[in-house]
Amino acid sequence: MKFDRTFRTVIVLFIILVILITSYFVQDIISKNNVASVEETDLSLTGAKLSDSTYAKMVVSGTWDSAVGVANQFDFTIFNADKYDLANWTISIKVPAGSVLDNYWGSEAELDKRTGLLTIKPTNYNNTILADGNITFGIIVSAKEPFSPTSLHLQGYKILSNNTSLARRIVEVFIGIWTIVFIGFLVTRLNFRNYREKQKNDIKIILQSMNTFINFIDAKDPYTRGHSKRVAMYAAEIAKRMRLPEDDIQNIYYAGLLHDAGKISVPDAVLNKPGILTKEERAMIQNHTVAGGKMLVQLSSLKGVRETALYHHERYDGSGYPDGLKGEMIPLFARIVGVADAYDAMSSNRVYRRHLNKDEIIEEIQKGAGTQFDPRIVTYMVDMINDGYVNVVKMETADNDESYGKFNLTEEDIPGVYMGF
Ligand SMILES: [Fe+2]
Repeated sequence: MKFDRTFRTVIVLFIILVILITSYFVQDIISKNNVASVEETDLSLTGAKLSDSTYAKMVVSGTWDSAVGVANQFDFTIFNADKYDLANWTISIKVPAGSVLDNYWGSEAELDKRTGLLTIKPTNYNNTILADGNITFGIIVSAKEPFSPTSLHLQGYKILSNNTSLARRIVEVFIGIWTIVFIGFLVTRLNFRNYREKQKNDIKIILQSMNTFINFIDAKDPYTRGHSKRVAMYAAEIAKRMRLPEDDIQNIYYAGLLHDAGKISVPDAVLNKPGILTKEERAMIQNHTVAGGKMLVQLSSLKGVRETALYHHERYDGSGYPDGLKGEMIPLFARIVGVADAYDAMSSNRVYRRHLNKDEIIEEIQKGAGTQFDPRIVTYMVDMINDGYVNVVKMETADNDESYGKFNLTEEDIPGVYMGF
């Protein structure tokens, strides 16, 4: 599976973002894990609503005479309706001053006789009231007369999380986030696939139009048949070696294909005349640039195509036509196609001469650096000849090209169209 560079970058950035978000949540959970918040609440024992998360129930289990006066037995239940455990709890209950603690069970109890403050503390094994759990304990207090406490004070530490649920929550967060990522990826991929389908179809339409148009040009000038496609290939390769953006490489290919479109406007007798041309005839041929520029004016969606047709015969020193543009004033695509065009002219047979050999071509092109051609582009073209990307001998057969009428560009011919997927 191949992705284009932008798509890859987006995916990588997205993954980094997800990792950052995940680690933020994990950190958040870990930091909360060991923090216990202090809970302190007064619980009513009269039976009404007590607290949002903690409830107390007291039963007066009996009263009887004792040495002090009256013995009172109370049984308590404390409910923890919260989702967090309550640890190291302490309960204080106010009883009449001078009372005596006769007995207690379920917890430790201590009575300050002077103040009447009864403190209930957990025994070692029940020091936590679990989430959704409860504890029970009982006391017998003797006082001068029967009494009944109306409230108690509860204090403890709410454990926000524990180790078991920490692991579970980390896994939950991971699964949650990665599920979103996966769904996002699938949706993006689906959209991208639809987009690619549509793009492929658009390219097909462009290609079919180009094929039709190139057949027109070839029919007009059979001697240079195949020329447009070769120029397009060379120009795109130069653009690639110059590391131009992929869109530019693609457009320069189209520009190469259509650079001689204006030839359609040149009379056959002039275009295919084997002998020396008169001044008027030469002007008619040179006019294919202006004619091409006019014909392609509607093709503005393919960047540089019109300018290339118009300016591919401009020369770097300003002595070219139609406008005598100089140096960088000549659009880049036109400068590139100009070199590719010249190479193909030299490497194929023409009405008036056979093709040149490799060394002659290199010499001619280098001679033109700075006068006819952009010197920077010349170095790329010469490299392509030297490293065998373009092959003069192979091109010799171009004259016998059987492709007339069958000339058929496919998506593979268009640089950058195949991104895989
Ligand atoms: Fe031309």
